[in-house]
Amino acid sequence: MVKTSIIISTFPLSALALAAIPSELFASLLPQKVLDTFNALPSPIQYPQYTDTVAGEWVYFSPDTWTSGFLPTIGYAMNTRKALCGATPTNGLGSADWLSLARSASNGLLSLNASRSIAHDVGFISFPFVEELALNPNNQTAINAVNRFAAMLAARFSPVVGCTRSWDTSDPTDFQVIIDNMMNLEVLFRSADLTGNSTLRKIATTHADTTMKNHIRADGSTWHVVEYNSTTGLVIKKRTSQGFSDDSTWSRGQAWGIYGFANMYRFTNNTSYLTTAQRLATYFLNSIPSDGIVPWDFNAPLTPAPRPADSSAATLAVNALLLLAQQESAPDAKQKWIGGALQILANITTLAWKPSWQSLLSNGTVNKPSNNFLTGIVYGDYYYIKAGNELVSMGLANCTTKGATSLPQSQKSSAHRLTISFPCWWPLFVLWTFLIYK
Ligand SMILES: *[C@@H]1O[C@H](CO)[C@@H](O)[C@H](O)[C@H]1NC(C)=O
Ligand SMILES: *[C@@H]1O[C@H](CO)[C@@H](O)[C@H](O)[C@H]1NC(C)=O
Ligand SMILES: *[C@@H]1O[C@H](CO)[C@@H](O)[C@H](O)[C@H]1NC(C)=O
Ligand SMILES: *[C@@H]1O[C@H](CO)[C@@H](O)[C@H](O)[C@H]1NC(C)=O
Ligand SMILES: *[C@@H]1O[C@H](CO)[C@@H](O)[C@H](O)[C@H]1NC(C)=O
Ligand SMILES: *[C@@H]1O[C@H](CO)[C@@H](O)[C@H](O)[C@H]1NC(C)=O
Ligand SMILES: *[C@@H]1O[C@H](CO)[C@@H](O)[C@H](O)[C@H]1NC(C)=O
Ligand SMILES: *[C@@H]1O[C@H](CO)[C@@H](O)[C@H](O)[C@H]1NC(C)=O
Ligand SMILES: *[C@@H]1O[C@H](CO)[C@@H](O)[C@H](O)[C@H]1NC(C)=O
Repeated sequence: MVKTSIIISTFPLSALALAAIPSELFASLLPQKVLDTFNALPSPIQYPQYTDTVAGEWVYFSPDTWTSGFLPTIGYAMNTRKALCGATPTNGLGSADWLSLARSASNGLLSLNASRSIAHDVGFISFPFVEELALNPNNQTAINAVNRFAAMLAARFSPVVGCTRSWDTSDPTDFQVIIDNMMNLEVLFRSADLTGNSTLRKIATTHADTTMKNHIRADGSTWHVVEYNSTTGLVIKKRTSQGFSDDSTWSRGQAWGIYGFANMYRFTNNTSYLTTAQRLATYFLNSIPSDGIVPWDFNAPLTPAPRPADSSAATLAVNALLLLAQQESAPDAKQKWIGGALQILANITTLAWKPSWQSLLSNGTVNKPSNNFLTGIVYGDYYYIKAGNELVSMGLANCTTKGATSLPQSQKSSAHRLTISFPCWWPLFVLWTFLIYK
């Protein structure tokens, strides 16, 4: 009892209001760095994935790498931002033809095919082509790319297991599926829409249903890897690859899961996916310690301090929560996810915004078990930029945001209710966090 009141009294009163949207999100340094990255692309093309830990300079990878689609997609996101915000003398958005940069960088992905190692990560690789089709639905190059990537993924589906295969293994009956692959399913829906092939939609829902059954723990946390026997369809093992331990929750995997299930709801209207996304999101928000920093794994040890963050898990989670908020019809639920997203965004900007680096953010964890952390990461930057775009689209930011966030008129009533209901559960959450993490 005594402990509870001490902790409550140290919690800032401002937590009852929405966290401010960081002005860095719309700083001219952002387009400047993105343009510098496009201008420095090697020829023949290679794509940035992460930075070194000292100078923050990009390390480049061949097109046949799961992250190659992110820089082209950043180009599309900058094009979107220019459309949303306009080019002003100070915001830097007028400095480039973002669409041309995006299109030209996408071309390096067109020769990827099923024999290449990206075969199970075609969801990420297809992002720029999905963006292209949103602008130009008749672009045959992009249509072919989306259909080809979807077919590559469909070819990895096992009806016995009920999933698409992630990594290839020396024993082909050892069928490994990672939570990340929830991010692949959109390309199946996109291709189904383009071709009318409903098999693709069925593969997506089956993969999601199997993942829902086997990848999620009772408390809403997730395993990174589930291994199935492709002969029997039975689960062999649940474990981690990039997380702290087999029983832990790798924060980026948890965020891929929130995004993936919220997106499944968006494409199907099936409320079991919405409920699943809500459970994962609740676990994510409840697991952030009181310093507000998203750790690389929620169960990784606190010592030696500081426990490394993963800024990419944070910015991905911001987008996953905003996508979830967009899917919710209840105003209170919308507000809860928006509030969580803005808090994570404010915290990660304070920790990781890194003007002197080529990346926007530092404090990314690519793969902690492989000792690759304290870097910038291209997908962390992508989701940072996308977060700004989503906030503008949702009417929550105005491209020059400074100071307190104000809610658009349509959402004000729920914000009012939030301030009333917040204290009812907040002390319990703070106490729980204290007991778990102390
Ligand atoms: C069509 O899309 C491709 C790949 O995304 C791009 O390279 C090309 O420039 C686009 N074509 C047109 C005419 O916009
Ligand atoms: C797949 O890509 C590789 C490398 O670019 C190429 O050698 C191979 O011919 C391609 N296969 C098909 C079926 O297009
Ligand atoms: C639909 O997609 C599946 C998976 O790629 C494929 O096997 C099937 O041939 C396609 N059906 C048609 C009618 O194209
Ligand atoms: C899967 O099950 C089959 C049949 O029981 C067995 O032969 C095979 O070794 C199993 N594979 C794995 C990876 O457990
Ligand atoms: C989901 O519901 C919305 C709103 O009712 C509707 O516009 C949309 O077409 C539905 N989508 C699917 C895949 O049923
Ligand atoms: C929704 O998904 C659940 C499993 O996730 C499935 O059992 C149910 O049939 C689906 N509902 C519809 C209307 O497709
Ligand atoms: C963030 O990164 C800086 C170096 O860029 C490092 O000193 C600090 O310990 C990191 N903090 C966390 C929580 O990862
Ligand atoms: C993160 O948020 C918490 C709670 O609002 C705050 O106390 C903390 O100072 C923030 N940390 C950073 C690094 O912004
Ligand atoms: C954007 O929001 C900031 C802070 O609320 C305000 O000062 C500024 O005038 C707004 N700009 C526009 C164009 O509405």
